[in-house]
Parts: sequence; structure tokens; C-alpha cells
Amino acid sequence: MVKKIIVCATAFAFLAGFAAFSSAADKGPETLTLQSTVDKSDKPKPATFPHKKHQDAGLACGECHHGKGADGKQAAYTDGMKIEKCESCHNKAAGMPKEAATFKDAAHTNCKGCHQKGGKGPTKCPECHK
Ligand code: HEC
Ligand code: HEC
Ligand code: HEC
Ligand code: HEC
Repeated sequence: MVKKIIVCATAFAFLAGFAAFSSAADKGPETLTLQSTVDKSDKPKPATFPHKKHQDAGLACGECHHGKGADGKQAAYTDGMKIEKCESCHNKAAGMPKEAATFKDAAHTNCKGCHQKGGKGPTKCPECHK
């Protein structure tokens, strides 16, 4: 009986997850703990990222998300596009420019860049790396 409930719950979670994944309105997790897994340093430094708070602050998805065109150049965010992990493109092996060569570089440029420019959001290390 318990097993049946678990199987049902799992199937439901899978279907619900699938529906969310295939929907254009998938806004992703509310809070993320970002951690490089490919080019990680000797001392891992996870960063806390309140995703929903940024969306609620009225920031466009394209402030952070983009894709890669057939020419290898950045492709602008479009509604419902497949959103990949930053590190799937920003890793040492991919040969990206210096300011976005790794997840760390891409994140520091994007996150700190906006916080500095907008005068809002943390710029000190322990405010993101708790
Ligand atoms: C606005 C938020 C933010 C601030 C401020 C910030 N970082 Fe980061 N940092 C990140 C994110 C996001 C990543 C990529 C995910 C990860 O690996 O932690 C990262 C990655 C790193 C990494 C690679 C970690 C790893 O696991 O490989 C190091 C090292 C690092 N940061 C050091 C610093 C230092 C030192 C400072 C202060 C001078 C700093 N960061 C300030 C957000 C921030
Ligand atoms: C301030 C930056 C920022 C904004 C604005 C933002 N996101 Fe994100 N989002 C991120 C980061 C960073 C991640 C984690 C990427 C990673 O793990 O490499 C993420 C993850 C996601 C994921 C999960 C992807 C996965 O790996 O499963 C989805 C879906 C998503 N965002 C959708 C959205 C949508 C839709 C919007 C606009 C309504 C939006 N985001 C706005 C930064 C942002
Ligand atoms: C599908 C691949 C892909 C993904 C996923 C991706 N990027 Fe990029 N990104 C690119 C390409 C391509 C460029 C342009 C590189 C060049 O100029 O040669 C770029 C450039 C950048 C730059 C430097 C130029 C600028 O706009 O300031 C930053 C910073 C950056 N990306 C951050 C991020 C962050 C943060 C994420 C995750 C939220 C992310 N990228 C996800 C492909 C990607
Ligand atoms: C396009 C601009 C922009 C980008 C890119 C951006 N932020 Fe922010 N961030 C903000 C603003 C604006 C606030 C203040 C929001 C508020 O107080 O409601 C903020 C606040 C924060 C806070 C503090 C939240 C709190 O509870 O006070 C953290 C932590 C943070 N950002 C981390 C990040 C990380 C990590 C990234 C990169 C993955 C990032 N941000 C990218 C604009 C940005």
C-alpha cells in the first residue's frame, strides 16, 4: 500500500515536473545554490542566489539568460527558449572570452556587474558566498 502511494506520488511528480519543464512559463527554482562542478576551485565556494527575488524585482529574464547562435555568438533570450546551466557554455574547455571564461568569471561579470551598475545588490564576497 505504502509502496503504491510512493509509486503514484513519483509518477505524479514526474508528470508535474514534465508539464512545468515544457511550459513557457517555467520560471525555475525560487532559490538556487550555485556551485561550479566543471572548473571548480580547490576550495568550493557555493553562492546563494535568490532567483525569484530577482524576477520579482522586475528584471527581465534576458538580463541573465541567453543562448548561443550557430555562429558561436551570444543569442538573445526569447520567451520559452531552453534555459541551460551557465557552465554548460562557460567552462574552460569552451574557449570563451576572459570575462566569461568560467562559471565563476561569467557569474562575477553578470552578478557583480549589475549590482555595481545599479547600486543595488551585494558586491562583497561573504554576501553571496555565505
Ligand atoms: C554577487 C554575488 C557574488 C559576489 C559578491 C562574489 N561572488 Fe564569487 N561567485 C559567485 C557565483 C554565482 C559563482 C559561481 C558559482 C560557484 O562556483 O560558486 C562564484 C564563484 C566563485 C569562485 C569559484 C568557486 C568554486 O567553487 O570553484 C570563487 C573562488 C569566488 N567566487 C570567489 C569570490 C571572492 C573572493 C569574492 C569577493 C572578492 C566573490 N567571489 C564575490 C557570486 C559572487
Ligand atoms: C538576475 C539573473 C536572473 C534573472 C533575471 C532570471 N534568471 Fe533564471 N536563472 C539564473 C541563474 C544564475 C540560474 C542558474 C543557472 C545555472 O545553474 O547555471 C537560473 C536558472 C533558471 C532556470 C533553471 C534552469 C535549469 O537548469 O533547470 C529556469 C527555468 C530559469 N532560470 C528561468 C528564468 C525565467 C523564465 C526568468 C524570467 C522570468 C529568469 N529565469 C530570470 C539567473 C536569472
Ligand atoms: C548556450 C550557451 C550559453 C549559456 C547557457 C550561457 N551563456 Fe553566457 N555567453 C554565451 C556566448 C556565446 C557569449 C558570447 C561570447 C563571445 O563574446 O565570444 C556569452 C557571453 C556572456 C558574458 C559576457 C558578455 C556579456 O554579456 O557581458 C557573460 C557575463 C555571460 N555570458 C554570462 C552568462 C551567465 C551568468 C549565464 C547563466 C545564467 C550564461 N552566460 C549562460 C553563451 C552562453
Ligand atoms: C540585472 C541586474 C542583476 C543581476 C544580473 C544580478 N542581480 Fe542580484 N540583485 C539585483 C538587485 C536589483 C537586487 C536588490 C533586490 C531587492 O532588494 O529586492 C539584488 C539582490 C541580490 C542579493 C541580496 C538579496 C537580499 O535578500 O537582500 C543577492 C544575494 C544577489 N542579488 C545575488 C546575485 C547573484 C548570485 C547573481 C548572479 C547569478 C545576481 N545577483 C545577479 C540585481 C541583479
